[in-house]
Amino acid sequence: MSSIPGNSSKEISSDKSLLRAAVGIDDMAVYIPSLYLPLTGEFSRQRDIDPEKLTRGIGVERMAVPDAHEDAATMAAMSLLELMRRCDLQPGDIGKIYLGTESAVDEAKAMGTYVIGMLERVYGSGSFQGCSTVEFKSACIGTTLALESISYWVAAGEDERIGVVIATDVARYPLHSPGEYTQGAGSVSLLVKRDPRIAALEQIYGCFTRDENDFFRPLGCATATVNGKHSNQCYLDAMQGAFASYAAQAAQKGLIAPKRGECTTDWIEHLLFHIPYPRMVEYASAAILRQDWRNSRHWKNVEAEIGVEPEPQNYADLEKYQVDLAGYARSFARSRYFQQAYNAKVKDSAALSRQVGNIYTGSIYLGLASLLELRKVQAKERLCFGAYGSGCSALVFSARAMPGISSVPSRGLFERLERRREISLQEYELLHEGEGKESLNRPSEEFVLARIDHQGYRHYEYVR
Ligand code: HMG
Repeated sequence: MSSIPGNSSKEISSDKSLLRAAVGIDDMAVYIPSLYLPLTGEFSRQRDIDPEKLTRGIGVERMAVPDAHEDAATMAAMSLLELMRRCDLQPGDIGKIYLGTESAVDEAKAMGTYVIGMLERVYGSGSFQGCSTVEFKSACIGTTLALESISYWVAAGEDERIGVVIATDVARYPLHSPGEYTQGAGSVSLLVKRDPRIAALEQIYGCFTRDENDFFRPLGCATATVNGKHSNQCYLDAMQGAFASYAAQAAQKGLIAPKRGECTTDWIEHLLFHIPYPRMVEYASAAILRQDWRNSRHWKNVEAEIGVEPEPQNYADLEKYQVDLAGYARSFARSRYFQQAYNAKVKDSAALSRQVGNIYTGSIYLGLASLLELRKVQAKERLCFGAYGSGCSALVFSARAMPGISSVPSRGLFERLERRREISLQEYELLHEGEGKESLNRPSEEFVLARIDHQGYRHYEYVR
């Protein structure tokens, strides 16, 4: 194989793991609202932010904005409808719909029941009555926990039907806050079945959970409360903990067996992380690769470029040690050796997020969609996912690309994003504050929230 740092020169592993884990993602559909706000220009001028900070420092260019008739439920129904049409699925083929969201529209009623109600407007009343649905809430990691759970149901094989996992969210922070330019909206639907065409799950899950106040949305609040810098650190701590757990389990089960000088990421072709904003993926991969390379052959190349990492036993002053260690971490992230591995294994997964923003629980799967649309994944390659949810929890797991991956048609997502309508800052602010009651794009061939009645029940329709 290539001389990319972090890739060994051997075939990635035997085909045994493919046979052992033949449950996974067969196809996926993505729905992104048809309105967007460019973050350079009017937004950066009015907010007095250097556009370079947004495009380079944060890594975003455009923010997807839901129209007045859209919410998390309509977006979920749109991605599911597209998945069913792409895969020629009928309602009776689907046994379970597990839906991850932190943009709930009801405190009790599962969003999936609204979604089923919408789909029945297309497929006929009662057509989904044999399908169960449940909502997974765990900030941005909810969909991944749903995927883990549904994969065991599919693997049990007691029901011939397939499972669907839906991620759907509107990421919303207060206007003028530092979270504002990371907002986005969208939904991803995953088809989970045996003998999947895209990727088979290897069923090893490294987990890390800790009670944190990094990001939360108390009952009744429309926007999240976020302790921004602290949230970045929680994300990194959790990801490092979950990756260590994944690596230990993968070694113990013989899935990844690094030889002398090798490390776990040598056995991984693609690292995908939760993407609150694209730069976070760079921070995450720097933290994971620094941890993973430290005891491997890569470390001498790192030391040759940026010197020796500070060690606590050489310091009398703990604060000074921490300052020097943080400086070393920054040098590592800027090093050529790391950047080469980052470009090869990680960077492309953030391509769609740059045009969309954070879609919370679906953003890691938007990362998968980026790789698929760019045709970056080849059969047999290993994808390692690092999901994160505030509060906080991380889950690291892997999947192997299947031979059928090249037969799955493109979704034309990059072209579709180019066809969106640009909106003004004023239009965006009205929609954000719930004051833009009229749709900016007249709905056509889509689900709409028609009204909310006096009891708070939501009425959805399909507009042809
Ligand atoms: P901030 O204050 O906007 O950013 O906060 P900053 O000042 O730290 O700057 C960010 C980067 O831009 C830095 O790069 C700056 O140097 C650079 P670095 O030094 O790290 O390489 N920069 C510039 N670059 C070029 N030209 C310039 C320039 N100026 C500065 N002129 C923060 C950023 C993410 C904290 C904020 O946007 C925020 O609070 N966002 C919301 C929370 C969030 O996204 N947290 C991420 C981790 S938590 C998570 O992922 C969970 C979540 O998805 C929710 C869930 O789980 O449900 C959020």
